[in-house]
Amino acid sequence: MMAPAATALGFELRVLAESDDVSAVSAVSSSPVGDYKDFQTLLEFSKGLDVMTFDHEHVPTAHLRALQEAGVNVQPGPDALVHAQDKLVMRAAIDRLELPNPVWASVADVAALVAFGEETGWPVVLKTPRGGYDGKGVRIISSAAEAAETSDWFESMSPLLAEAKVEFTRELSALVARTPDGEARAWPVVHTVQVDGVCDEVIAPALDIPVEVAAAAEDAALRIANELGVTGVLAVELFETPGTGAGFLINELAMRPHNTGHWTQDGAVTSQFEQHLRAVLNLPLGATDALAPVVVMKNFLGGDNQDLFSAYPLALASEPAAKVHCYGKSVRPGRKIGHVNLAGTSTADVDSVRRRAAVVAGIIRDGRVPAEEPPAILEENA
Ligand SMILES: Nc1ncnc2c1ncn2[C@@H]1O[C@H](COP(=O)(O)OP(=O)(O)O)[C@@H](O)[C@H]1O
Ligand SMILES: [Mg+2]
Repeated sequence: MMAPAATALGFELRVLAESDDVSAVSAVSSSPVGDYKDFQTLLEFSKGLDVMTFDHEHVPTAHLRALQEAGVNVQPGPDALVHAQDKLVMRAAIDRLELPNPVWASVADVAALVAFGEETGWPVVLKTPRGGYDGKGVRIISSAAEAAETSDWFESMSPLLAEAKVEFTRELSALVARTPDGEARAWPVVHTVQVDGVCDEVIAPALDIPVEVAAAAEDAALRIANELGVTGVLAVELFETPGTGAGFLINELAMRPHNTGHWTQDGAVTSQFEQHLRAVLNLPLGATDALAPVVVMKNFLGGDNQDLFSAYPLALASEPAAKVHCYGKSVRPGRKIGHVNLAGTSTADVDSVRRRAAVVAGIIRDGRVPAEEPPAILEENA
């Protein structure tokens, strides 16, 4: 999705692809296949680049440091990126910045997890600090007995991150971008709906959020970007917790264009993909204003329909204003394969916009109009 932005600006994008069937290969003409965990492959790939950046955070930190030492312009740099790679490093940094963290601990074994649960109260959330995404690497532990069943996780990685389970009203995301010279801009704070640990829907902006909470969330994201030296796009995932401290707690950081920013492709003056390129190249950033009072992004995961294009006549006819983004991935159950952006002319229309976006996504996913209405806007955590 960075390719159209690069093309518009006349930049040549090259992608180090994991395999020849990833969607980037069909979108980007120069897309050699190689292992991003192999240093020589990375070094070879870096030749002739003005800047090297990422669309996931799994390139080993040590390799990025070595690339920097070899003179490669890595953006974001490893000292910043490690906060998106390692949730324990991130939690410690958020404490250091005195920004609102959930209660957390680094736990080395089952006994430490049980001690944490007994102290903070069950349930607790157990996370692998590295390598997780879309809820993989996140487990809710309801009791000491359940904690005893986590030894397999500690065997493959230790220490792990334990967090108090936060009673939030909704999840939010504060998206910003920053250049190496320190110019930074923020998009409006959005409401993100997660289903089974996967981002399902985004409502931009988050409606009825107290102005001071939105401002504090934006400030926190800009401060994190600045203090950690982040370059490119930074997404700060938040839990909204009305009536407590700042009114939110920080969940996690992502340093790349993020699912919670896909709405900007059709809903903001500058999309997160264009902004990421401008930022990592140290160019002036684009305006981040929304183009409509409300924009809904609805993801579609692999479902019943294997032949997505067969659903296009019905899906596209159902909502001419919808913008469909299909990733060209093979359909597997639960795999993110695309999203729909739909703008509304008034915040009062949010329910209708959500429903219409869900219809388009549902038709593509399952080949038929979804039977159910989207759940009410603040009920997903009830
Ligand atoms: N401490 C917590 N309390 C309550 N829910 C949580 C907590 N941590 C994570 N979750 C839920 O799990 C989801 C995934 O967790 P996250 O740490 O963001 O992992 P991932 O790297 O998979 O995105 C969150 O979006 C949220 O819905
Ligand atoms: Mg997350």
